[in-house]
Amino acid sequence: MENYTLKDFTLQTLRTDAIDRTIQFKKWHKQAKQNNHQVFWTKAYGAVKPEMTIEDPSTGLKRKVISFVSNDYLGMSQRPETIQAGIQALQTYGTGACAAPSIGGYLDIHQELEKEIADFTGQEDALVFSSGFGVNVGVLNALLGKEDIAFIDSQVHSSVLDGLRGTNTKNIGHNNPEYLEFILQNERSKYKTAMVIIDGIYSQDGDIAPLPEIVTLCKKYNALIYMDDAHGIGVFGKNGRGIAEYFNLLGQVDIITGTLSKAFGAVGGFVACSKDMADYLRLHANTTVFSSSLTPQVTCSVLKALELIKTDKSILQKLWDNVNYFRKRLLEEGFDIKQSVAAIFPIMIRDPYKTYEVARLLKERNIYAMSIVFPAVVNKDSRIRVSLIASHEKEHLEALITALSEIDKELHIK
Ligand SMILES: Cc1ncc(COP(=O)(O)O)c(C=O)c1O
Repeated sequence: MENYTLKDFTLQTLRTDAIDRTIQFKKWHKQAKQNNHQVFWTKAYGAVKPEMTIEDPSTGLKRKVISFVSNDYLGMSQRPETIQAGIQALQTYGTGACAAPSIGGYLDIHQELEKEIADFTGQEDALVFSSGFGVNVGVLNALLGKEDIAFIDSQVHSSVLDGLRGTNTKNIGHNNPEYLEFILQNERSKYKTAMVIIDGIYSQDGDIAPLPEIVTLCKKYNALIYMDDAHGIGVFGKNGRGIAEYFNLLGQVDIITGTLSKAFGAVGGFVACSKDMADYLRLHANTTVFSSSLTPQVTCSVLKALELIKTDKSILQKLWDNVNYFRKRLLEEGFDIKQSVAAIFPIMIRDPYKTYEVARLLKERNIYAMSIVFPAVVNKDSRIRVSLIASHEKEHLEALITALSEIDKELHIK
């Protein structure tokens, strides 16, 4: 059977013009369609939650599935309290502020959310943006220029890379403080600002940054720390305040960014930092300066989610019960999940074609989990990505383990 990967396509078309490339893309897409591999977006009917309905790519019919694709870690998108808070905001403020915050779209509820996020993350101040992707692009563009350098972990999110086009960068490998020190020793003095950029929890492997070592090194070499805590905030630490709380380092990270689309169950993003830096960003982070404010509904639903996170610890406990149970079961069954410690589990398949096959066979068994292949990861790191949330039940987790074990008999994925 032909096996033409997305990476083959990318390499072959590097030097073609844009129109040629779109035409040649059909070769790869045709192959995927013939093999019933779902490579484009899967259509869902209704809410994205543990039991949901999607369109079956091979028949076009609706299929009820158990789903492991949502990052709504605490189930906040479906809670009556967050929904009610959103409805009230719609009635009070309407559907949008319809202006950028800098030119009239800044509401009292935006300021309230900024204060709540600053307090929750242990920082002096915070700004909210209409996407987490936009936070990284806007903040990094505003802070780093031609005389500066970003030392970046090799597995940071693509939004970080998009924010660094106007500055110097150096790859520091992955979770490797010794190598970071070597680079800081050699490179730090050549630049004005040095910034070490990490994720708190890495979005594909679910592993955790060695924050204590990084804090020590950044102090020693006078570098700023920038931590994207998209997958840590709301999930890690005794009170869900993220990776800084988990390591008892609240207030020690210069810049923390995150999304409102995961533990907070909505959409949007934030940066939390010093008051001076926040004020500078209010007029220099273009992805908020020139972009309309977060909607009132989202703002109030997130405020309610934060209140629930702070007052009802049983929600976080339920997530961790699921995560600990599922990790134990996967390891008992012999699956390779790399160094995952979070609610994200990479089920390593290590071949892109086989990964699409596994996703297809899972769907046949009414299980919905994402295949992750190039360019999100290199071909040999292709995997099925499983994301657990608090509202999964044990039966959902067991159904996935049973399906994976059955597929293993056919495709040998362990
Ligand atoms: C580590 C990380 N940073 C940033 C983002 C972007 O966040 P958003 O979905 O709010 O744009 C994501 C989302 O997938 C992420 O995983």
